[in-house]
Amino acid sequence: MNKKIISSVLVAAMAVTMVGCQQNKPGSGDAKLPAVGATIYKYDDNFMSFVRTQMAKKAEKKLALTISDAQNDQAKLNELVDGYISKGVKALDINLVTPQAASAIIDKAKPKNLPVIFFNKEPDEAALNSYDKAYYVGTRSSESGELQGKLVAEQWKKHPEWDRNKDGIMQYVMLKGEPGHPDAEARTKFSVESITKDGIKVQQMELQAANWDTAKAKDIVDAWISKHGNKIEFVIANNDAMALGALAALEAAGFKGEKAIPIVGVDAIPDALTKIENGEMVGTVLNDAGNQAQAVIDLTLNLINGKAPTDGTNWKLEGKAVRVPYKAITKDNLKEAKDSYGIK
Ligand code: GAL
Ligand code: CA
Repeated sequence: MNKKIISSVLVAAMAVTMVGCQQNKPGSGDAKLPAVGATIYKYDDNFMSFVRTQMAKKAEKKLALTISDAQNDQAKLNELVDGYISKGVKALDINLVTPQAASAIIDKAKPKNLPVIFFNKEPDEAALNSYDKAYYVGTRSSESGELQGKLVAEQWKKHPEWDRNKDGIMQYVMLKGEPGHPDAEARTKFSVESITKDGIKVQQMELQAANWDTAKAKDIVDAWISKHGNKIEFVIANNDAMALGALAALEAAGFKGEKAIPIVGVDAIPDALTKIENGEMVGTVLNDAGNQAQAVIDLTLNLINGKAPTDGTNWKLEGKAVRVPYKAITKDNLKEAKDSYGIK
């Protein structure tokens, strides 16, 4: 290998390392910031990339926060935690790959008396209760389903033309997140429960897991369109990334403008907000990335300083969890969602 090739290989290797690991470098004067190790279950997840950015922002000047990509591999995440502990971090902020793996992380942290704040993927209560320095920051999963269902019902009543075959029944398809994920299970169940509670009759035409992913959702909806065509009257997605995949499939098949089929998601990621603003998506439910990140950082700091976890904050502990509320978002209140994601 000549020198040029070697150096470009090196540059590429460095770029990969930097993509996989984000750090708040202690600037001059704050070299003594406590070191904290964080993991994200995978960087290739649309919503979590906003949580990650918000965490780095909220940690500025408070913590020397290192965030790493577990690449959707729990064994890899466990290794990252071992690495953090051997480097002497003062706390761990953990977005699990497998919710059941919380106890394995607690087993590593407990002997060192290290606080562990789990976030986004909710561990079992029993695991949290097994360690006095383990907490969870997230949401109440069922609430997102209930709010999404309510939004769907309200909009359905306002738009009689959406009942394309005029049978008085909503023929819907459901895009599910990762099976076994508390958010995916609860959203799938409670969205439909809350639509029918409103007196609306529904018929599920399809349900499939697209694991939160835009490209997977697009493939699935492409197939549904070939099978059912314009018999689909509503697309309900457990998150916005999948809703965007559905939208791409439907628009490519000519379901746009007057022929559009209503779509809802959850998260309120910026791309979805644009689609709501343009009338291409009906609405979403804000999964408050900014406030969840803030709560993670607040609890981390307090626990490092030996204080009560919510000391000096407005967060309320329910058992071992801080639950940030969801909010239904339509064209009428986009600003609240934009603020949470830090968009102007
Ligand atoms: C959910 C979110 C999804 C996905 C998932 C990852 O709360 O709505 O979009 O990011 O977390 O665990
Ligand atoms: Ca119908």
